[in-house]
Amino acid sequence: MTEPAPTQPAPTRLWGGRFSGGPSQALAALSVSVQFDWRLAPYDLLASKAHARVLHGAGLLTDEELERMLGALDSLADDVRAGTFRPTLEDEDVHTALERGLLERLGALGGKLRAGRSRNDQVATDLRLYLRDAARQLVSRIAELETALTGLATTYSTVPAPGMTHLQHAQPVLFAHQLLAHVHPLARDVDRLQDWDERAAWSPLGAGALAGSSLPLDPEAVAKELGFAGAVRNSIDAVSDRDFVAEFLFCTALLGVHLSRLGEEVCLWATSEFGWVRLDDAFSTGSSIMPQKKNPDIAELARGKAGRFIGHLTGVLTMLKGLPLAYDRDMQEDKEPVFDAVEQLLLLLPALSGMVSTLTVDTERLERTTPTGHALATDVAEWLVRRGTAFRDAHEISGAFVAWCDARGLELWEVDDADFAAIDPRLSPEVREVLTVSGALESRSAVGGTSPGRVAEQLSALVALAHEHAAWATRP
Ligand code: ARG
Repeated sequence: MTEPAPTQPAPTRLWGGRFSGGPSQALAALSVSVQFDWRLAPYDLLASKAHARVLHGAGLLTDEELERMLGALDSLADDVRAGTFRPTLEDEDVHTALERGLLERLGALGGKLRAGRSRNDQVATDLRLYLRDAARQLVSRIAELETALTGLATTYSTVPAPGMTHLQHAQPVLFAHQLLAHVHPLARDVDRLQDWDERAAWSPLGAGALAGSSLPLDPEAVAKELGFAGAVRNSIDAVSDRDFVAEFLFCTALLGVHLSRLGEEVCLWATSEFGWVRLDDAFSTGSSIMPQKKNPDIAELARGKAGRFIGHLTGVLTMLKGLPLAYDRDMQEDKEPVFDAVEQLLLLLPALSGMVSTLTVDTERLERTTPTGHALATDVAEWLVRRGTAFRDAHEISGAFVAWCDARGLELWEVDDADFAAIDPRLSPEVREVLTVSGALESRSAVGGTSPGRVAEQLSALVALAHEHAAWATRP
């Protein structure tokens, strides 16, 4: 987001007292985090306002001091937003930079805010606030992708497609059924983020460095003001816990995997070999050498970025696994992975939504290829079962039927009436009644099946769900 401008030199170290000199250049360069944790500035300022009120409630700030403190925090927040207050590389981290800003505005009074809190409880609080906001932004973008997919399913609601297993024609499905099979995982991603949000909604502020504070603070009041359900019940856990980071990264990793699988299918569908869909010019790219090329870069980037999201989860879990309680500096490494996951997904999701909503589908080609590859062979077997044949035999008979057709370069429905009995006496020309795509689709009418009625039911439920997801994301 913000590369700090290396201007103002005056360092505002938060821990100068017992040190005779400043840190070595090598240490400072290694430990500085402000170049990425500046993203937490708005949340740190919100938490500071809540903390100021609690100090006031504890009699540690007068009415007048509180008013000046809140005024300065508001003006600092404005300047941060406007970019007129910026961190410097001397600032070490976001907390240091903002204390400098406060001291610049308030003089000695600015130094009172730090009472009873530590960067350990601050950073844990800031990161929870940031991620709870990020979860809402992500859910909003996921809802848009759900809507793009349900929109496409609505437009092409009657078009069949070859359903596949092992990437081979298996059984006919509605193309909409296939599209909606990508919406359900996204809906579970939203569900997972909402569920995560409830567990993340606990405030660490008040834990101080690790043991709480001897000052009469009110962690519950701070928690309420910041929109948390309450204060964390153990001050050591409050500053040690990064479950909310790991769980969030699991949510983004799995979301990334879902987007990758969607991306992979779009890549396949857009090939000349499949030829199911055409990408809109605005959502595909050309080649610098081959004038005819139209490449599915968005879908490929969706596939590619999944590795990165999985890496972030792995990295953070590995960083955490050996850490003694409470805070350790290792934990500073928790931030770049989540910032990157959030920011990359906020780039990827809108691009995917645009790509999906502008796809055009070659309905004629889908209709023509759906029954090919003997995709109706299961229907033949089940037709025999309905007439009393054991499925084991039915499978053999239908297999012989397929082999007979293959040897002659025929599709199942192209066999002459007279030939059925030659293949197997239990076959008869009436088998033709199941040798149509529409019959095959219509007959799969149990819950979860691909019959037009079931798919319509599914579609309207998912449209409603996408609306609920969008509404959750904007709820205060
Ligand atoms: N930049 C630090 C982090 O992100 C803030 C907490 C530092 N605490 C400390 N005791 N040095 O983890």
